[in-house]
Amino acid sequence: MDNFTYQYPVRQYFGKGCAESAIKKELSLVGQNVLLAYGCGSLKHTGLYDKVKGWLLESGKNVVDFGGIMSNPTYEKVQEGARLVRESGIDFILAVGGGSVIDCCKIVSAQALLDEDIWEMQYVKHEFPTRFVPMGAVVTASGTGAEQNNGAVITHTGEQLKQPLVGAYHNFAVLDSDLTRSLPMAQVISGAFDTLSHCMETYMGKPQINNLSDELNESVMRNVIQNLRALIADPDNDFARGELMWDSALAENGLLKLGKQTDFQCHMLEHAVGAYTDCNHGRALAVIHPVLYRHLLNEGKEKLARMAEQVWGVKGSTTEESAAFGIAALEDFIREVGLPTRWHELGITDESILRAAADTCLLMPGCCKQFTRDELFEVLKECM
Ligand code: NZQ
Ligand code: ZN
Repeated sequence: MDNFTYQYPVRQYFGKGCAESAIKKELSLVGQNVLLAYGCGSLKHTGLYDKVKGWLLESGKNVVDFGGIMSNPTYEKVQEGARLVRESGIDFILAVGGGSVIDCCKIVSAQALLDEDIWEMQYVKHEFPTRFVPMGAVVTASGTGAEQNNGAVITHTGEQLKQPLVGAYHNFAVLDSDLTRSLPMAQVISGAFDTLSHCMETYMGKPQINNLSDELNESVMRNVIQNLRALIADPDNDFARGELMWDSALAENGLLKLGKQTDFQCHMLEHAVGAYTDCNHGRALAVIHPVLYRHLLNEGKEKLARMAEQVWGVKGSTTEESAAFGIAALEDFIREVGLPTRWHELGITDESILRAAADTCLLMPGCCKQFTRDELFEVLKECM
């Protein structure tokens, strides 16, 4: 294993029905003025908005609404949130939603205390924020694991970039599977595939030799596959729903990344395509993964072969054959759960978008193969 230092700052409340007591307990520890952040309608439709607002008012808080946070949150939305925090003297931000709401709040929490523009700070000056308005996350759509880390993915529409920014850690994360029951099954599947993708992106990093983090990772991957199948078969299976929530958390709380360098080239390709198309994160990852992995059959064959055997339960007569069988098994699973395998299924038909995405995509040093931009364009074209 490579050397590492590990500290984990996010308190976890896990379990069916835990939200009310967790939120009341945590909110008793924070200041008076609370920003209640949420997405584009689901929170009000499901009645959770009224419940959470009621719990906050019962706790004697002044509540300021910050709604309308869109999927793939924008830099403009971050600026709107930061203005609200400043104008209303917000003491605490409560993010209730999926990865988009949770990510947006991480950057609002930093931007609100900065005089300078956070995008420029990070991408031009290469400096990072150190002061944050405290926050907590209540997860209503699991899969991204966004509640577990301090990275956020923000779309800068002016620059046509969807890229990571460093923000704050949430003080706590509420993982109550009841809150995800209203999530459409298509989004449940997209989220679970995102978790599987985070695992694979971590597993496929450097070095190629398997360490303890990778062995834990194999268990998480098997668990995602098994419980997604179980939940599709029976959407009332709360056990499977809970397992998927904790899989999502484990994939992004840093544990599986210890002692190695992660890959995440597939994610950077998805983000680049997302900047031009606003596509769904998990569904676009499903399109890219098998195609990208076929381009790693030389450099990444040992790891792909081990994943084939340990995760998909398939084995060929050579390392190369096992690796190829594993990629085929991944693609079969993607089809089995109803995810797309080609761009046109996401409405993407314009090749010039793929060229632009390949030209702006971040190139990842942890990927076992160092791609050129032309090679990445080939990968994206093969997904047509
Ligand atoms: O906006 P509302 O109306 O709330 O609807 C949302 C949205 O349409 C809906 N939803 C959420 N909870 C619901 C619900 N509908 C019914 N019942 C509920 N309980 O679900 C839709 C998708 O929500 P969103 O938050 O956009 O999805 P997800 O959790 O997949 O987050 C995607 C974002 O996270 C980023 C992605 O790039 C994307 O921007 N990621 C963040 C990561 C991180 N910070 O670590 C890692 C990931 O790799 C990812 O890049
Ligand atoms: Zn992801």
